[in-house]
Amino acid sequence: MSRRKELGRRAFLGGVAALGGAAILSRVGPGRAFATGLSPPAAPRVGRTVTLHLVAAERAVKLPCLAGRELPLWTFSESDWLPVIRIDLGDRLLVRLSNRLPRPGEHTSIHWHGIRLPNDQDGVPYLTQEPVEPGEDCSYSFTPPDTGTFFFHTHCNTAEQLGRGLAGLLIVDGDAVEPYDSDEAIVLRDWRLTENKAGFLPFYTEEGAVRAGTFGTVRTANGAVVPEIPLPASGDCRLRVLNIDPARVVEMGIRGADAALAAIDGVAIPPVPLRSWRMGPAMRADVVIRAPRENETAMLVDYFAPEPVPLARLVGRGAARRTGAFDPAPLRAGRMPDPDLKDAERLTFEFTPTATGQAVARAADSGAALGALCLANDSFWAINRAAWPGHGAGRIPPPLAVLQRDRSYIFELVNRTKQQHPIHIHGHHLKLLKSNKRDLPVHRADTLLLYPDERIETAFVADNPGNWMFHCHIVEHQESGMMGYVRVL
Ligand code: C2O
Ligand code: CU
Repeated sequence: MSRRKELGRRAFLGGVAALGGAAILSRVGPGRAFATGLSPPAAPRVGRTVTLHLVAAERAVKLPCLAGRELPLWTFSESDWLPVIRIDLGDRLLVRLSNRLPRPGEHTSIHWHGIRLPNDQDGVPYLTQEPVEPGEDCSYSFTPPDTGTFFFHTHCNTAEQLGRGLAGLLIVDGDAVEPYDSDEAIVLRDWRLTENKAGFLPFYTEEGAVRAGTFGTVRTANGAVVPEIPLPASGDCRLRVLNIDPARVVEMGIRGADAALAAIDGVAIPPVPLRSWRMGPAMRADVVIRAPRENETAMLVDYFAPEPVPLARLVGRGAARRTGAFDPAPLRAGRMPDPDLKDAERLTFEFTPTATGQAVARAADSGAALGALCLANDSFWAINRAAWPGHGAGRIPPPLAVLQRDRSYIFELVNRTKQQHPIHIHGHHLKLLKSNKRDLPVHRADTLLLYPDERIETAFVADNPGNWMFHCHIVEHQESGMMGYVRVL
């Protein structure tokens, strides 16, 4: 399979890889332990303005996983089914979105997942902006305050819109102290295809919504089934692994090479050896891998299965880049404020099924009436006994909590269900402090996976005013009630 065929995306990142590869480094590590500590955060700078036009439309795309056949995807870009926006810290993004989707009433928007931006740029129809109807345009303008690996997607009828392809990557550079030998994005997602792969299966199913979500039938990495990803042989390569699937939880690992986890949801952690890392929908992990020797192969796998499932073949190519022991260079520290735990107010959020959680209808807020595409189909899940948007209300409900600006909060997240839930907050990152079930590194994340019956403690500074969605990112859970928002005054 030719790399060129991957619709330009590889070519784009390939250019970046070549840049990184131009600097041949050899660091001699201190034996087996990794260098600890992070470099200081990147200094803020005033960068360029990057102007882009994204046109949401139906396009016939030859996905690599379709063996040459076309599928009518919904995408943001003519040239690339999964556009990659790559900017430097300090750059301002100016994006015009045109909705040219073919179905009457199929409004859309762009949510910039994980970006701490002003609330009115957050892309949530009715809550932060008017929905963009077919034939209409809108624009976004913001300067991402953080480096890292992000993505963007729409925020109503997401099971279908994301299921048909509507998404893209946003990479903000400036966190690497030393260039890696390569920098590759690996995007994991399923496609819900009929058996002859000529069309889509239903994206939302009741059976899926009440359980773990409806999985796709074709698993892909960068749109291909177990693609070969060439890496500079024996190089220290940065792999940005993104799970953008609407439903599937992946326990990501690498077989056949040394690897370290270096960032979670775009935020650096001191590198830790990677055994496996469980990633729910919307979660990202940056991994540094010592690439295999020339013509040897390592495998990106999913351990969340009886037998590890291969996702991508990582093959060493060219002259050996490094010879010293594997000691991956740490990234620069994140730029989020540290919560003050002594002074923090504690709030508990319980995630429950409605059958036992007795979701109560909430009085309608004075907020906008919700259009049909943003209304729950079913009411299977709730947060603190409230199911979005509240039975029959059809209006923006009141917030789950009202927070004081610049105060620190401890959010205790309690899963009282038998399913896993990747819980996502907009406009902020949560600092994970501890779990009652797992030994996790203290880290920041915009999406935190809750295991069944797990209770985690997180903290953050509510420093971004506005109404911020707070929801499960298994899209069918989100769309059947497990969604709400917090208001920062
Ligand atoms: Cu990535 Cu509210 O979502
Ligand atoms: Cu969920």
